[in-house]
Amino acid sequence: MNLIFIFQRFCEIIMAHKLIYYGSDTLKKVAEEVRNIDSELAGIADSMFNIMYREKGIGLAAPQIAISKRLITLDISDYEKVPPLVIINPEIVERSDGMEPYEEGCLSVPGITGDVIRPSAILIRALDINGREIRIEADGLLARVIQHEIDHINGILFVDRLEEYKQKELRAELKMIKKLNRAV
Ligand code: CO
Repeated sequence: MNLIFIFQRFCEIIMAHKLIYYGSDTLKKVAEEVRNIDSELAGIADSMFNIMYREKGIGLAAPQIAISKRLITLDISDYEKVPPLVIINPEIVERSDGMEPYEEGCLSVPGITGDVIRPSAILIRALDINGREIRIEADGLLARVIQHEIDHINGILFVDRLEEYKQKELRAELKMIKKLNRAV
């Protein structure tokens, strides 16, 4: 919530795809199934990787750049031996009974983190950027990022999942992000 943040917003606006923030309607919508996996979609995925790397994020969902499609990019290769992934129309097939807390953050909710409790392992079915069906069994950070991003394409932000007292604590900060969002 400072000049650097405002400057970053300015830079994003003069680029084709820009990151959008808490308070934007697109982030609250259930995103549409991807029907055509074509060069246009590949271009969107490329933009998402660029924005994600620039902002030092490890996952991004298309709604975060105002595109309401069920498309996710992620790269956790700095932390685990997993290649960069494009995940299209994901479905969670199985969830572990075991749940765990993990401190999450989000490029669309800058400056805010909080513990979210989620299943510690999942199995998903999805399509890759070539339209092939993929299945990913994930635990640890990978399961965490995938679930956070699937929430995005269902119109849910991690702050919606925080405990009530924490949401109350963050109310002023969230209001500020919303306001800045409208101002630019
Ligand atoms: Co996020």
